[in-house]
Amino acid sequence: MLQLARAFLERKGLEEARLEAELLVAHALGLDRLGLFMQLDRPLSGEEIDRARDLLVRRGKREPVAYITGRREFYGRDFEVGPGVLIPRPETELIVDLVRERLAAREEQGPASIADLGCGSGCLAVTLALEVPNARVVASDLCAQAVARTRSNAERLGALVEVIEGDGAAPLLVHGPFDFLVSNPPYIARGEAAQLSLEVRDFEPELALYAPENDPDHWAAVLIRSVPQLLNPGGHLLVELGHEQGSRVLDLARSSGLVASLHEDLQRIPRVLEVQRG
Ligand SMILES: C[S@@+](CC[C@H](N)C(=O)[O-])C[C@H]1O[C@@H](n2cnc3c(N)ncnc32)[C@H](O)[C@@H]1O
Repeated sequence: MLQLARAFLERKGLEEARLEAELLVAHALGLDRLGLFMQLDRPLSGEEIDRARDLLVRRGKREPVAYITGRREFYGRDFEVGPGVLIPRPETELIVDLVRERLAAREEQGPASIADLGCGSGCLAVTLALEVPNARVVASDLCAQAVARTRSNAERLGALVEVIEGDGAAPLLVHGPFDFLVSNPPYIARGEAAQLSLEVRDFEPELALYAPENDPDHWAAVLIRSVPQLLNPGGHLLVELGHEQGSRVLDLARSSGLVASLHEDLQRIPRVLEVQRG
């Protein structure tokens, strides 16, 4: 079954055919990869073969593995994902590291308040609620499915997160100001859609991908403008950026009179804008 699955995915031109074959066959059998290897000599029932075949056909049509299995790991924890929710990306983990570093360096050790705008699966909000002891975490999203998913991931992982459905920064005002405002907002220009992989373009939610008004900097600008209302003095704004936004949004923040810097991800792409309220 594994050999057939791998060969099928290779014929479909998928680069990670072997790993994906293992993940999908394991999922069809209700196992993880380790469980699969423990049972390599087990005969499969017709029903199990049908189930695996269905999953492989979906992957052959370029549906992401995370949507097929309903899960993706983020910062060492399993998050459930599904329709309406972006699949968490490893580069977003940088924001968690930055919050933890800032808190470790802080002299005042009272509970930190953290807001996450555009929470999606809840990967940032839930991870921060679990990694930062005693944190008060508020997460918001315009998409009802994302709000529900953040709530269910928080509950399943044992995190305390207040999740609100709302548009943009305004709904957070009543819950703030905060010590940290984090966001991985939509930052792809519509014009760039043709360059996206089919997995992203055809399966991930448009609301999570595309920046309003075809302007990749839209949300960074909104968040920079909201610093005086949403952040406590000394508080930090941390915003994830696309490949080419770095210098533009850094200039924007600095021209607003704010202290700002960029942080690179593991591929040395300026990935996070940090703004500190004086
Ligand atoms: C790139 S996704 C990030 C999701 C998650 N934070 C992550 O890192 O995986 C952006 C999120 O912003 C939400 N969003 C888009 N427009 C919004 C708006 N006007 N107000 C609030 N959230 C919005 C989308 O629904 C989506 O969940």
